[in-house]
Amino acid sequence: VAPLKVGIAGLGTVGAEVVRLIEQQSRTLSSRCGRPVRVVAVTARSKAKKRGLDLQGIDWSKNPLELASDPRIDCFVELMGGAGEPALSAIDTALKAGKSVVTANKALIAKHGLKLAKAAEQFGGALNFEAAVGAAIPIVKTLREGLAGTSVNRVYGILNGTCNYILTRMEQEGLSFAECLKDAQRLGYAEANPSFDVDGHDTAQKLAILASLAFGTKVSQSAVYVEGISSIAPEDLRAAADLGFRVKLLGVAVRTAKGIEQRVHPTMVPKTSSIAQVMGVTNAVTIDGEGIPPITLVGPGAGGAATASAVVADIADVARGIRALPFGRPVERLRAIAKAPMERH
Ligand code: HSE
Repeated sequence: VAPLKVGIAGLGTVGAEVVRLIEQQSRTLSSRCGRPVRVVAVTARSKAKKRGLDLQGIDWSKNPLELASDPRIDCFVELMGGAGEPALSAIDTALKAGKSVVTANKALIAKHGLKLAKAAEQFGGALNFEAAVGAAIPIVKTLREGLAGTSVNRVYGILNGTCNYILTRMEQEGLSFAECLKDAQRLGYAEANPSFDVDGHDTAQKLAILASLAFGTKVSQSAVYVEGISSIAPEDLRAAADLGFRVKLLGVAVRTAKGIEQRVHPTMVPKTSSIAQVMGVTNAVTIDGEGIPPITLVGPGAGGAATASAVVADIADVARGIRALPFGRPVERLRAIAKAPMERH
């Protein structure tokens, strides 16, 4: 059987881990997909960087665009990040060449997801982005496939590992915000620019993607009210604890009479609630569906290995020829509205 030939753009924490995982799991992948999965070409900013990888037999492309249009590859994997170029043109080029695309790039999907989804549909490739939200948690699959028959009323949760890691360590060890952030960066959880994490934008992008999948709203980060955690100090967490609460950065998308309300902000949650038990880099997403009790998915929300696991699962879907619609077709026209919690009543 013909192997799925994969090209990977970006060999940072996640990219290197994806190459390793495909190599390590090659027999399992081959038997699960019914065909081998092979990395045939890569591109990265630095060829010389030590990655601890055996890249023998893998070609280097000059740049992402060259890789995206390389006729030898069937599946273009974008792991460079960034909401704009070169990721956008590279993905667009690959899709228009009829290739399937796998990306972990939430900023790009939150900004250009619909346009790219249309190109995927028109040219027959898949556009998979499981790793863009909740790393290893299969939340994209759950919403667009597992709950395809359910009307969702609310999706909410902890969507940024860095923030939850910082809040956890500040509360448990009384460490300063800056110290915890530094550790989150060292462990490979934070974005290249960590203000995306701590100012809530990363959560907003993920929430916009989840809401779009759940409600058929247009993916748009600008329709999310955003407040981050950078002004929270250990004393605030102690004060909340004295009252029986913990502070969590939540993303909430909820169906209202006027549309889908979307917001991200630090929230006091009762210490006894299940969401208060989610500690460290862990993410948790709860879906309230019509007529069924809430469903909660909990798991590692950041880090090379956790993100690579979702990327490889997306590649496996491509190898098996599964082509889920990137975003559900809106059944009803729902508007996404950014609303602060205090404006609610
Ligand atoms: N910086 C992100 C986080 C990485 O901390 O959750 C995963 O999207």
